[in-house]
Amino acid sequence: MPLRAPTALDSEEAVQQLNEIAQVIVGLLGEASPRRREHSERVANLAAHFAEGAGLLAGTAPHRLYLAGLLHDVGHIGSPPEESATPGDEQETRERRHPVAAVQALSKFHGFAPLLSAVRHHHEHFDGRGYPDGKAGEAIPLEARILRLVDRWDRLTAGPGALEPKAAIDRLRELGGSELDPRLVEPFIAFLDSGGIAAGDFLARKEASFIRQSFSGILQKFSSGKLVPPAMPQVVFELRNVIRRQDSSVKDLADVLEKDPVLSLRLIAVARSPVYKGYGEVKSVQAAIPRLGFKETLSIVVAIANKSLYEARHPQHRVLMDKMWVHALACAYAAKLVSQSLLLEDPEGVFLMGLTHDVGKVILLRAFAELPESPTVSPETVLTAIQDAHQSVGVMLIKRWGFGEEFSRVISLHEKDELTADTHPAILAVHLANRLTRRMGLSFFEPEAEEPAAIASARHLGISSEVLEKIEARVKDIVRDVAHLF
Ligand SMILES: [Fe+2]
Ligand SMILES: [Fe+2]
Ligand SMILES: [Fe+2]
Repeated sequence: MPLRAPTALDSEEAVQQLNEIAQVIVGLLGEASPRRREHSERVANLAAHFAEGAGLLAGTAPHRLYLAGLLHDVGHIGSPPEESATPGDEQETRERRHPVAAVQALSKFHGFAPLLSAVRHHHEHFDGRGYPDGKAGEAIPLEARILRLVDRWDRLTAGPGALEPKAAIDRLRELGGSELDPRLVEPFIAFLDSGGIAAGDFLARKEASFIRQSFSGILQKFSSGKLVPPAMPQVVFELRNVIRRQDSSVKDLADVLEKDPVLSLRLIAVARSPVYKGYGEVKSVQAAIPRLGFKETLSIVVAIANKSLYEARHPQHRVLMDKMWVHALACAYAAKLVSQSLLLEDPEGVFLMGLTHDVGKVILLRAFAELPESPTVSPETVLTAIQDAHQSVGVMLIKRWGFGEEFSRVISLHEKDELTADTHPAILAVHLANRLTRRMGLSFFEPEAEEPAAIASARHLGISSEVLEKIEARVKDIVRDVAHLF
């Protein structure tokens, strides 16, 4: 009985599943013969780009052709590898049978039904002399005629005895009308001339262009006010006002916080954690505030309030969000420790800058996850797009939240390496913290094996590798102890 699989390329999930199944199958083909696998991948990418670029197929049809290209030779699974096949009757029989064998195997998956005719007929010749059915002209499905052409091109230009492009093009022209559909040959040559061959991976390009479009749409909606970014909870504003007043008491602060019981409980949990050691007996907000100090209380409250931004409904996004949260928190503590070790002003302010430096990423990912047809796109692709756009969105948000100009500057400058000794120390501290988290593997970048004191911001701050390594060790402990408490 055929496996229950999606029936068409109509839902994103179905598409994703089919792509994965196709990859597994072509992987099996490659186990037996790496050359057949590489051939299949080239044919798939080139056929889909050509069909789409030349306007032969539209909508989901190029993607279907991509899958057909990937799978067109799976009837050879079980044949001796192409590399060692010896010509003879047996090989001839296998060769003539492989399109039908492929269809038999693939028809076990309902989802592949729309590609079967392209696979079955990819060796039919335009003049009717091909196999397996001897179909001719337009009785051969268009997709199969495209595959025949691209398959021929690849056989001419890759592997042993490969021709120079010019000679291969001449050969294609000769085959137009006999093996190949003559009306496809010239458009294909034009496509090759326009650089089509370098188009690369069809699926990756599709993904990337989808993401680019989505993100520019999101940015537009933000700037036109159609999309309203999340607000900072009211309690944070109230708390800031209370702290700004010189004569505020612990009770004033506690009154504000206790209006929000969830927040109060989390504040107590953080204050009791080993990170704020010695405060183990803290059982109330009233007791926590004097021990933490007003500013540190505010830092923790902002961090708790921020944490809610990092919640995601979709499991795939949840993994990214959790990573972003750990990165933000690690960066906040690292920036604070750097400030403290250099006796810079206002380490709590620097903590908040570290906490919010990448807030644009979170907002973008949230907006992306909420798109009506948010497809399953690889996390790498999403992250690259987010990386490019996160500063401008972050600045917009932080202004809306009423954080000072310094916060905007940190967000704009934290990725830049054109720093000088005159750059504000808070910016240098966050820049450095961001890079330290990268070294520690608490970011989306590959950990870098750079000497910490050699980082531009570390040099300007005049801080040694020894101190920085201690800070890293401390940040690791902190993240382990408190990241889940917020
Ligand atoms: Fe074939
Ligand atoms: Fe960043
Ligand atoms: Fe960052």
